Amino acid sequence: MVLHKSASQNSASHPFSLQSLSTFALPAFAHNLLHLQQAEQLTEIDFGHLGEFYILGGGSNSIFLEDYAGTIIQPDFKGISISEQAKSWQLHIAAGENWHRLVCFCLENNMPGLENLALIPGNCGAAPIQNIGAYGVELANFCDYVDWFEIATGKIKRLHRSDCGFGYRDSIFKGALKGKGIITGIGLLLPKQWQPNLSYPGLRELDNPTPQQVFDTVVAIRQSKLPDPDDIPNVGSFFKNPVVEQSTFSGIKAAYPAIPAFEQTDGRIKLAAGWLIDQCGLKGTKIGGAAVHHRQALVLTNIDQCSGVDLISLAKLVQAKVKDKFAVDLEPEVRLIAACGETKLENLG
Ligand code: EPU
Repeated sequence: MVLHKSASQNSASHPFSLQSLSTFALPAFAHNLLHLQQAEQLTEIDFGHLGEFYILGGGSNSIFLEDYAGTIIQPDFKGISISEQAKSWQLHIAAGENWHRLVCFCLENNMPGLENLALIPGNCGAAPIQNIGAYGVELANFCDYVDWFEIATGKIKRLHRSDCGFGYRDSIFKGALKGKGIITGIGLLLPKQWQPNLSYPGLRELDNPTPQQVFDTVVAIRQSKLPDPDDIPNVGSFFKNPVVEQSTFSGIKAAYPAIPAFEQTDGRIKLAAGWLIDQCGLKGTKIGGAAVHHRQALVLTNIDQCSGVDLISLAKLVQAKVKDKFAVDLEPEVRLIAACGETKLENLG
């Protein structure tokens, strides 16, 4: 697939601007957009004749590289309900609720647990798809269930946590169920017995902290490293942290003893993609309007009227340099959408 040189101007065939609907803010338009406020509206859509579609939440992990020929479906369902159990708080959150606002709401209402996941952009409905995670905690730690509208049957099904296939930045919604339905809400269980997760550098130093202190520290760390998309458009980590075999790791470690590494439960080793990119001297590297962020090399940014072509060229340069120096493949964490739908970096350019 070849990416067209530049997105066309708004036209009758592509009347809906996507620029403000993705935090990377590339200029692109969609052929059709359906904004839904009630989950029941999903049953009114004729999926059989809709053609290509893409479900868009807060747009903080989706990049529209050029005009999109299909239909954008934006679930904007709202509502949070809480029920108190003996040992936990049970929450049901509609897919269109903002994740960070949920974290704040829980803290303000003495239902702590989500502090490490503060300031992650995007909506709650998107959270299970890539199993959002930060500072030693993942959504999977608190997720009880995911409600999911199945297109084939027109029914909302409840998938319990164990059915969601959660892994590092992964779930069944990126795999077997991809394109087959739409998340309408999530259920979380927050134990009343709060236990801070202080496993991450920067939090380890906290001594007997309150939930508010953990929250404040996470917010401060994120703000010191990660650019605010409102100031510099970005979608957070562009690549996943690669997980390699012990033998590969040993080879790299021998040459680079300071390499940060995190052993996984299966014995493999997760490397820090940001560190690998940084070691290639790529911080601040620019192609057209796209740049590697100067404080966190894992974040690619739109610094000045970036185009899809600029971004793809920069992402490929980063991949090539890391492969050259460390023989490690970086895989995008973000979702890339071209004219005909979601695609892979290797299919572009
Ligand atoms: N590092 C560098 N240079 C850089 C960036 C990182 O040397 O430019 C080093 C750091 O010093 C550290 C290691 O790499 O030793 C890891 O860096 P960091 O703690 O910043 O976390 P990360 O692995 O780069 C991941 C998530 C982030 C999440 C943080 C904190 C992924 C792909 N990214 O980043 O998630 O906030 O951990 O838990 O797993 C996101 O998904 O958009 C995101 C921001």
